[in-house]
Amino acid sequence: MKHLIDTQSLSKEWLDNLLSLTQRIKQKPQECKVTGKILASIFFEPSTRTRLSFESAMLRLGGSVITTEDARADSSATKGETIEDTVKVLSYYSDIIALRHFEIGTAKKAASVSSIPILNAGDGAGEHPSQALLDLFTIYEQGVDLNDFTICMVGDLLHGRTVRSLSCLLAQFYKPNIIFVAPPQCKMSEDVLFILEKHQIKWRNEVDFKKAIAESDCIYMTRFQRERFADMNMYESVQNTYQFDTSCLPLIKKNAFVLHPLPRCGEIAVDVDNDPRMLYFKQAENGVFVRMALIYFFLVLNS
Ligand code: CP
Repeated sequence: MKHLIDTQSLSKEWLDNLLSLTQRIKQKPQECKVTGKILASIFFEPSTRTRLSFESAMLRLGGSVITTEDARADSSATKGETIEDTVKVLSYYSDIIALRHFEIGTAKKAASVSSIPILNAGDGAGEHPSQALLDLFTIYEQGVDLNDFTICMVGDLLHGRTVRSLSCLLAQFYKPNIIFVAPPQCKMSEDVLFILEKHQIKWRNEVDFKKAIAESDCIYMTRFQRERFADMNMYESVQNTYQFDTSCLPLIKKNAFVLHPLPRCGEIAVDVDNDPRMLYFKQAENGVFVRMALIYFFLVLNS
């Protein structure tokens, strides 16, 4: 495995090893080092968590970082340079690349010419595999039986790459029961449903948000992705469809927990943050440990 492009290319053995490595790094972060190595973080779309946690992960491993904060505006892509040429050049300047792009398939395109590992940090409304891995790690940490649990995914399932990647990852290796809660304009797309069917995963669409959260062990909220709507009227008509607020707390199971890839835009009320079942900040923290494990895997264990 030379790159991390999607969740479909992973094996169960690799996944189990990555989860164990993440756990080890979380307990003893000083034991893994990539001293002298350089991460290039190239982001053609805005990011807080993914870019800065990849960079934090590299620095915590003893490596260094070169970065473009806004490659869409500040890199030579503005002069017409292709992603292939950009990546070939960056292969001389760094040892591993975290790449976010606004077009589906760009990470794969970059990997096809790269002599160093490409980590897909999100490609349009395609995949976000490192997010799916940190989501999975956070679920796994709760001690749930991944073959016997119910997860509801709520919000913009059409444009949300995190829910796409997490659905595929869970379907490929576990037997979850998945409930999708989305307005008709933002339903989970057929390509992901096809993968669920292929793996004989129990899933359904549910219109009743409160019913779905009451049934679930994990409630995965997402924002409506304003930047991916062609029609702003449509965005405005759906953006406030679901809100997890204090009225939801008595409805959910005692041991249920709530995740969100963040950023949130009102779909989780701030006044539920102190409930111990709200794990989205822990989830963001786990992003550093999972990304440390990924960098360590590609630069040390896989080299
Ligand atoms: N979860 C996530 O991808 O967040 P950012 O867009 O801030 O990286």
